[in-house]
Amino acid sequence: MTEIEEIEQQKEYIKKVKELNKNRDLKYSILTMGCQLNENDSEKICGMLEQMGYKLTDKIEEANLAVFNTCCVRENAEERLFGKIGELKNLKEKNNLIIAIGGCMMQEKHIIEKLKKSFHYIDIIFGTHTLHKLPEDIFTVLEEQRKVKDILDIDGNVYEDLPIKRNSKTTGSVTIMYGCNNFCTYCIVPYVRGRERSRKPQDIINEIKDLAKQGYKEIMLLGQNVNSYLRSEMEEIKQGKLIDENGDYKEINSFAKLLRAVNEIEGIERIRFQSPHPKDFTLDVIEAIRDCDKICKLIHLPLQSGSTEMLKKMNRKYTKEQYLDLVDKMKSMIPGVKFSTDIIVGFAGETESDFEDTLDVVRKVNYEQVFMFIYSIRVGTPGEKMPNQVPEDIKHKRFDRLKELVEGQIAKTSQEYVGTIQKVLVEGPSKNNDKMLTGRTETNRVVVFEGDSNLINQIINVKITEDHLWYFKGEIIKNNDISNVIEV
Ligand code: SAH
Ligand code: SF4
Ligand code: F3S
Repeated sequence: MTEIEEIEQQKEYIKKVKELNKNRDLKYSILTMGCQLNENDSEKICGMLEQMGYKLTDKIEEANLAVFNTCCVRENAEERLFGKIGELKNLKEKNNLIIAIGGCMMQEKHIIEKLKKSFHYIDIIFGTHTLHKLPEDIFTVLEEQRKVKDILDIDGNVYEDLPIKRNSKTTGSVTIMYGCNNFCTYCIVPYVRGRERSRKPQDIINEIKDLAKQGYKEIMLLGQNVNSYLRSEMEEIKQGKLIDENGDYKEINSFAKLLRAVNEIEGIERIRFQSPHPKDFTLDVIEAIRDCDKICKLIHLPLQSGSTEMLKKMNRKYTKEQYLDLVDKMKSMIPGVKFSTDIIVGFAGETESDFEDTLDVVRKVNYEQVFMFIYSIRVGTPGEKMPNQVPEDIKHKRFDRLKELVEGQIAKTSQEYVGTIQKVLVEGPSKNNDKMLTGRTETNRVVVFEGDSNLINQIINVKITEDHLWYFKGEIIKNNDISNVIEV
């Protein structure tokens, strides 16, 4: 069966479940535990569920179906998931709740064994490669009253045209590729998400055009390694095997060209992407960022460690110097470019001097935002077997030192925003005060300001008036007032 036929079949199951659920007021709850790719998967899960006649509730007590979309990138998620499943036991008995657990953690054998042993009341277990079969799984549970485990160990295919219910009305997330080939030695993702597979350029462009039509202003292109988009397919493209009637791959055969094509789409005003890998940051990608006015000049550039020795152990394939050279090159080619990053503290064998190298890079780059993680040993990765694991107390002390440095830098940078004019994409009423609006700068900073709700989903000029550490306060200014204020 082709992927298209498989999706057609699932659409039939959606109809069948809808029929079974007819005239019943059914509700579902969903908990998404992972990254933005996981979030985007959840949007598809919600899309399928709503077409089957379920309505979203945030009260699990009133749900007929509970879905957990799991993550396993760090260990703490396991305990959290087991706790959450435990809490469902009573509801299962009381409300005949259907429990479906999916996502990355379900691709780990030891987790499946634990679930089988301790939580026999789970109805559906699905993996990262079988998400599209949820309608069939639910149908089986309803119709045949039996449990379903639907996990594939091989790499999944790329499925298009799944229903989707999006979380945001301003930012549309678009997964451009699945899986990862990099095998960083600390990381579980390549084992649970399989090898890299890219979506067809035309499918991505059509999805974004559709988002633009719906009024979306910002697009987030997602993948574990976005700047190796289409790299795994390159041989087949060269041999002419992947061309189809849309003329795919003729115009777009790399990440840089995809960026340029997205930049052309009318209605879209901001483009972000996450995550690129420093080793794949080729010149054509830097030039595309420079040339495309819609691409936000805040680049997420995961560092992981500032020590060349640690980077080698992590299998990151760049040195401290290469990373810093890349930052310098981008700073010289792209005016005003800023960076955010991911850092792991306390990977196996990290010495005080290795950690100092991380602090050194942080001082030099002066990031806008740093996502900091304490190294968490993942079963089955090379990191698990590495000698000289860093004791927990040292990891925590280093983490606190890094945090202090980062917070100091960010506090200083934030002060520099006060008095400047920022272009802000208005997202909606502020969560803490619904008389105020909230939005984000191009650098992804939150700004809260007074304004009319008809500004929602527009990009407007806001003068930053106060810095409150995690957000700014601002005042809307009219376009013609900008002339006497300096922009940054
Ligand atoms: N593919 C992306 C991100 C993947 S996971 C990238 O390469 O940037 C998101 C972040 O989680 C990683 O960047 C890394 O900083 C962190 N991470 C991954 N495995 C981890 C582990 N075992 N312990 C702690 N942090 C980890
Ligand atoms: Fe994990 Fe490395 Fe792949 Fe990112 S690039 S998902 S850190 S293996
Ligand atoms: Fe977690 Fe899977 Fe994302 S392991 S970080 S949800 S790809």
